[in-house]
Amino acid sequence: MAWLFRQRRWNTVALTVALAFAAGACSTEYPNSTFNHTSDFNTAIDGLWDKLLFWGTLVFIGVELALVYVIVKFRRRPGGADPKPVHGNTVLEILWTAIPAVILIVIAIPNVRTIFATQATAAPDALQIEVIGHQWWWEFRYPEYGISTANEIYLPKGRTVNFSLTTVDVLHSFWIPQLGGKRDLITNRTNYLWLTPNADLETLALNGFCAEFCGSSHANMKFRVYTVEPEQFESWAQHQARPAVFPVPVAAPDSAASPMSLVSAPETPGYHFPREQLPAHVIPTMRLPKDLSFDDATLKAGDAERGRELYSRNSCIGCHAVKGNPMSMGVLGPNLTHLATRHTIAAGLYSNDARHLALWIKNATKMKPGSLMPAIGIGERDLMLKTEVTAARGGLTDPQIADIVAYLQALK
Ligand code: CUA
Repeated sequence: MAWLFRQRRWNTVALTVALAFAAGACSTEYPNSTFNHTSDFNTAIDGLWDKLLFWGTLVFIGVELALVYVIVKFRRRPGGADPKPVHGNTVLEILWTAIPAVILIVIAIPNVRTIFATQATAAPDALQIEVIGHQWWWEFRYPEYGISTANEIYLPKGRTVNFSLTTVDVLHSFWIPQLGGKRDLITNRTNYLWLTPNADLETLALNGFCAEFCGSSHANMKFRVYTVEPEQFESWAQHQARPAVFPVPVAAPDSAASPMSLVSAPETPGYHFPREQLPAHVIPTMRLPKDLSFDDATLKAGDAERGRELYSRNSCIGCHAVKGNPMSMGVLGPNLTHLATRHTIAAGLYSNDARHLALWIKNATKMKPGSLMPAIGIGERDLMLKTEVTAARGGLTDPQIADIVAYLQALK
């Protein structure tokens, strides 16, 4: 008897632990979980999921009970008669056709409703963000503000945001698990995805991913999303729209940006998510390649003005744009205008600091498999072009790279 009690107690403990694990799986402590109610989109999806789980569980219990009942009731007994054949029982056949049909219709109603709601056209006053997929980084444009940025999105709470999704090369898929969504970026077609971060949401730093295999650095194609107060968003957006705040005036007159805008540029950058408040789940943990190094003293000796001059007459400007630097108008790579306000480089792969920038410029092909940014450091081997970098091929020395890093870090 005592043995039976002990057995029961252990069963209770085991059940409690199992339920705790099951409940834990839905906790918001999991930073990339989709089971959240942070936006209208994922509230709708999670509500649908809860409904389907509830009805599915009911059906499962009903079917299992009937099964167990039939197995026990009609089991073979010694000396029992042969079972009566039920083939051609019209009532039974109608019942087992009708019941699943009714269940499917009942389940289809909330399903179809949610599909129509999430596929509808966004409200006309929604904040528009153009998402452009590249191998392997994200270009984000805010046409309303004239902003072009990369790999980081700021979203004002309480305002619907309408993402228009396109790609310049292969298929990608845009996904912010915590906010809901996931939609493909397809060549020759613009897909849309809209959602509204809750107005009472905390200021969050979230992970975004590419969710469609797109080549060797698919897993390295990440981005960050910050849900911020509307006034913080305005401050960020107004600042991002302006030319970079660089302490030294640009030598050549820039016809696009009027001198007034340079003069009126603020001393301090607008709002951006405070670096010291970044949660652990958005801080990159990618390990550095073993055969790539940069001397600390050389890095510290970098000079921003020399760097601007070097940057402006080297291959950098062929791919990158810096608003306010008339030499830098490239569109193949990320726009670097306010690079120093971003927290990561290389599509969320590394922290945006001097060391990672220097290593990235020195040999991006070692830092990120398949990187289309060529190696620049003299003596480095470009793993994509399969050539050695030399001065004649436009390579740079470590002190020169340190200067460019200093310039990039001044682009606030
Ligand atoms: Cu882009 Cu996977």
